[in-house]
Amino acid sequence: MLSKKMEERLNEQVRNEWISEYYYLAMMAWCFNNDYDGFGMWFLKQADEERAHGMKLLRYLNEAGGSIRIPAVAPPGTELQGVDHMFELTWEHERKVTAMIHEIADLARQEKDYATDNFLQWFIKEQVEEENTVRNIVAQLRRIQGAPAGLFMLESKLAARQ
Ligand code: FEO
Repeated sequence: MLSKKMEERLNEQVRNEWISEYYYLAMMAWCFNNDYDGFGMWFLKQADEERAHGMKLLRYLNEAGGSIRIPAVAPPGTELQGVDHMFELTWEHERKVTAMIHEIADLARQEKDYATDNFLQWFIKEQVEEENTVRNIVAQLRRIQGAPAGLFMLESKLAARQ
């Protein structure tokens, strides 16, 4: 059985995941509006993943006897200034999400909540992958420095994300 504090924290994380979803949808919209459809497709898939992360948390909350809430969600109002900027923001954002997940894992260990500790291992591993993927894209963009041919090649590669 979840503690009230853990129930609260997991519900809050559902909201955080869906804030991420809307953040990436805002980035998708910027890309589509500026004819970067390939990058837009990458952000759309990223948004889909965030929706799934929130659902995974909701399902666990319910399964573990907690009460679930559907949160009100709005994306961060950050002004988006281009492809490089959006991937830098994405990398920064994913590092924040990692810190959030680690905080919940700390709480689970403090409370000796072994089930939640075990459940969170999936998210801990997922964040390693997410950070690595985005760090890699940021590195490539920094190397390309806006050169159209490089940008085109990277966009084609990212558009093929499954
Ligand atoms: Fe759900 Fe990108 O962290």
